[in-house]
Amino acid sequence: MDDAIATADFNARHWNFPQTGNIQAGDATHYGMLTRLLIETYNPYKPAVLNWPKLEPDALARITSLPIWDIAVQTEIKASMRIEAFAATIKDPDLKAALLHMAREEARHKDVLSRLVAAYDIPLKPDEVYKQPRDPEWAFMVTGYSECVDSFFAYGLFEMARRSGYFPPELVETFEPVVQEEGRHILFFTNWIAWHKATMPLWRRPYFFCKIIAVWLFLIYERIGIAKDVDGLENGDANFTVNGSKALADEMDPATLIDICLEEDKKRMSGYDPRLLRPTTMPKLARFARLFIRPKKRTV
Ligand SMILES: [Fe+2]
Ligand SMILES: [Fe+2]
Repeated sequence: MDDAIATADFNARHWNFPQTGNIQAGDATHYGMLTRLLIETYNPYKPAVLNWPKLEPDALARITSLPIWDIAVQTEIKASMRIEAFAATIKDPDLKAALLHMAREEARHKDVLSRLVAAYDIPLKPDEVYKQPRDPEWAFMVTGYSECVDSFFAYGLFEMARRSGYFPPELVETFEPVVQEEGRHILFFTNWIAWHKATMPLWRRPYFFCKIIAVWLFLIYERIGIAKDVDGLENGDANFTVNGSKALADEMDPATLIDICLEEDKKRMSGYDPRLLRPTTMPKLARFARLFIRPKKRTV
């Protein structure tokens, strides 16, 4: 890694807001942190110059047969479109700029994936055109909480794929910034939820609480494959993780996967200002599930 790339990578993983002192969710400093986080930790890599290493035939076969590429590309297109639609409803210029920045990062993920599938000749369905969401806030929350679920598992799956050599090291290096970028997104989203809750009028809070529950129920339905087109958007947020885990299922032990997800989550969040709230739902659920899941006995 040359110096400029190493510095950009470091800056994307480490960030402190210059103003010191305690903060409370919803106060001016919290808002400053929320609106500066993504912009100041931006990693300016260019998809066009990413390195797509030549893969050995077995690695190439493993990568091209993963059943995730269509859904991954579509998820990025939808995420970008939904975040942009939500940004259009926001009046405050700083928050709007942060959301538009996030939407551009999602579009860049789509660009990265498109270049990967082109480099390895992975057949893809043509891009779909998605309807604008009827309720942009709902659509943004579906995307945000989906990312909280998917990023948590993606951390662990990615690390397992790295350790086992399922992904060759050069490909891991190419994808690493994208995985970290999703970590920043869920950090931003978690703090937006907290800031939004704290700054809305008291009478709106019960409604917003119900909306959060409704989003989680929607994600659960979607992930068990029975969601209908209830939000005016096409299905398919349930994706990467489910398909990705199936593909790696033979190689992994669920208890080990959970442990690695938890370790990676901690590691990936550790460089950011400790006053920012961390996404806690998935780590809590995972720690609870882990109480009932024991590691498989090793045969060797
Ligand atoms: Fe993304
Ligand atoms: Fe994202």
